[in-house]
Amino acid sequence: MPDKFLAVEDAHVSFGNGDAQVRALRGISASFERGALSLVMGPSGSGKTTLLSLLGCLLSPDDGTVFVDGVLVNALNGEQKAALRRTKIGFVFQSFRLLHSLSALDNVCLGLEIRDPKQPERMTTARELLVHFGLGDKLNHEPDGLSPGEKQRVAIARALAGKPPILLADEPTASLDAEAGRNICQILRNQVEQHGKTVVVVSHDSRWQEYAHRTIILSDGQIKHQEQVTNS
Ligand SMILES: Nc1ncnc2c1ncn2[C@@H]1O[C@H](COP(=O)(O)OP(=O)(O)OP(=O)(O)O)[C@@H](O)[C@H]1O
Ligand SMILES: [Mg+2]
Repeated sequence: MPDKFLAVEDAHVSFGNGDAQVRALRGISASFERGALSLVMGPSGSGKTTLLSLLGCLLSPDDGTVFVDGVLVNALNGEQKAALRRTKIGFVFQSFRLLHSLSALDNVCLGLEIRDPKQPERMTTARELLVHFGLGDKLNHEPDGLSPGEKQRVAIARALAGKPPILLADEPTASLDAEAGRNICQILRNQVEQHGKTVVVVSHDSRWQEYAHRTIILSDGQIKHQEQVTNS
């Protein structure tokens, strides 16, 4: 029986109507293993971000089903979907999406404050995460004073702050040089190995292949190829 921890089944997504309609996903079925790093590759426009948006409960399929943390997302109302997203999923983006007028520490804290305003120890949690990612001497720096690789580490700390079991990353290394990119690949792989996170990375960047347990290749809204790799 296919694992339904994080999965889509026969999912269809279209944008627009009539002649302008784009069929972004055409009946995709894929299961993303718990405690593994799955890589989604494919040309521009093949549907990678759309697939990640389904898994992130940011978009609903026109047809087909989505499971997140074993829950059938189709059966949830908007509020329940938002709660699932908030507690189970961390997001990482190519453009970091940090707030410019806040320090690294406050950027991470803000993520926690939105999740749980009552949590008193959020400053400690945020500091520990940043120290863990080698940013102990940059806690009070604003994003403009950080390198792209450092910004992405702050963004990953923010994504992890609420301890979500699932991390979804859309082109997380596309704005980074080779060394910073490898560092981010290793950080996300460690989250799988050491903390049992389930990570899905969308990327054009082929260096992810050596860090992934499995690769799915999309083409024109469909799965072209899937392979299991035994990277250990
Ligand atoms: N909000 C939207 N409105 C209209 N069309 C959209 C929207 N989002 C995506 N599309 C279209 O759906 C298709 C799949 O887009 P998607 O962003 O998922 O591709 P992608 O594989 O992530 O591409 P890239 O590598 O360029 O990020 C494309 O043809 C795109 O133009
Ligand atoms: Mg995309």
